[in-house]
Amino acid sequence: MINFEFHLPTRIIFGKGEIRRSGDVASTLGEKAMLIIGRGSVKRYGYYDKVVSSLKDKKVEFVTFEGVEPNPRSTTVDKAGEIAKRERVDFLVGLGGGSVMDATKAAAVRALVDNPIWEYIQGENGKPPRRIKNALPTMMIPTVAATSSETDCGGVITNWEEHRKRSIINPLLFPKVSIIDPELTVTVGADTTADGAVDIISHVLESYLSGDPNSPVQDRFTEGLIRTVVEYAPKAIENPADINARSNLSWCASLALSGFVNSGRGGNFPIHIIEHSLSAHYDISHGSGLALLIPPIMRFTGRAVPERLRMLGRNVFYNTEYLPSGKSDVSAEETVRLFEKCFHSLGRKLTFSELGIDDSKFERMADDIISMFGGEKGYLENPQPIYKKDIIDIFNSVR
Ligand code: NZQ
Ligand code: ZN
Repeated sequence: MINFEFHLPTRIIFGKGEIRRSGDVASTLGEKAMLIIGRGSVKRYGYYDKVVSSLKDKKVEFVTFEGVEPNPRSTTVDKAGEIAKRERVDFLVGLGGGSVMDATKAAAVRALVDNPIWEYIQGENGKPPRRIKNALPTMMIPTVAATSSETDCGGVITNWEEHRKRSIINPLLFPKVSIIDPELTVTVGADTTADGAVDIISHVLESYLSGDPNSPVQDRFTEGLIRTVVEYAPKAIENPADINARSNLSWCASLALSGFVNSGRGGNFPIHIIEHSLSAHYDISHGSGLALLIPPIMRFTGRAVPERLRMLGRNVFYNTEYLPSGKSDVSAEETVRLFEKCFHSLGRKLTFSELGIDDSKFERMADDIISMFGGEKGYLENPQPIYKKDIIDIFNSVR
């Protein structure tokens, strides 16, 4: 039985060329903005200039904060928040990938308080030490098709000193408006495009495997979304300027965690929890950690829900280049192999050694994961519960 509340308060403007409306849309949020960007790509490819000229046209004042790194650090957020406070900005604009958008959401909280942002990030058992009481409004302009940060109320921030990467989540963090212009993603390189594709898949796959199985509408959305990514990611990598492929990936990305696909079915996100520990220790991209972990965790979870895996494999890969024509039935193990094949063909690395990571921190990461997310029971919630020993076995299976 599915019981849920679904509320997506973000106004979504979608389409090629829509970046030209950024000044107009921004002017609905206030008079002065802080424009937050990453480490240079948006300047290199001219997106920053487009936004700046549109803001100037509409007489929106702004200051720029440049330098958000991939896997954004809490210290960076603290700096951005302090400047936003000092400059008395009315709202924040995140122009960049998930890292920039997440840092923008966190800075929107930090701009209104004096404590370090880490005190507002989920701590033990998912609760932050301090309650978020307010946040500045935000507008997002994503430049990568991946995280869904443009349509959700969460962000992921890294404390590099402690090697912890955790979420900041609050309904106050829903962007007021997101301009999703797929044309901004044509400059995204093959690796980041592939990482994004894997991330989109994981955002709906985790709920599919671990959520309420009595949700056929959500299941069909999920299968359709994954199938679309499987079909269009290679096209975008093959021909980066393919705006049709880019548009479909952008829309899949924005839908994935918007609540639309997973609502009601619920479920858990153990693959994400485990991946965040990997990128917190090794600073690898989120997508590359996911590509490594999805197949073995799928295989592990498949012990408890083999029929879900078979259904997924059939409905995603039927009549695609991955399944010999006419073959419509696949086993749970074949489904895992089809995903491995798909990730491999997207250029993803499927072992720790390919990523240049040895086994020296397997134990430490497994300890961190269970102590932070295992609760009193000492395991990660999943149809097949994941204990510390299982995490180490999973790591070893793809060493
Ligand atoms: O720093 P710049 O110069 O902008 O370069 C970035 C970065 O090196 C580059 N890039 C961005 N837009 C580009 C571009 N290059 C060419 N053309 C463009 N248009 O791409 C690189 C990766 O950017 P990043 O923002 O790190 O990638 P992504 O969008 O995959 O975001 C990953 C972050 O989001 C978190 C991840 O954990 C990770 O920290 N996540 C956020 C979620 C959320 N808010 O709901 C959910 C996800 O599960 C995820 O955990
Ligand atoms: Zn993700």
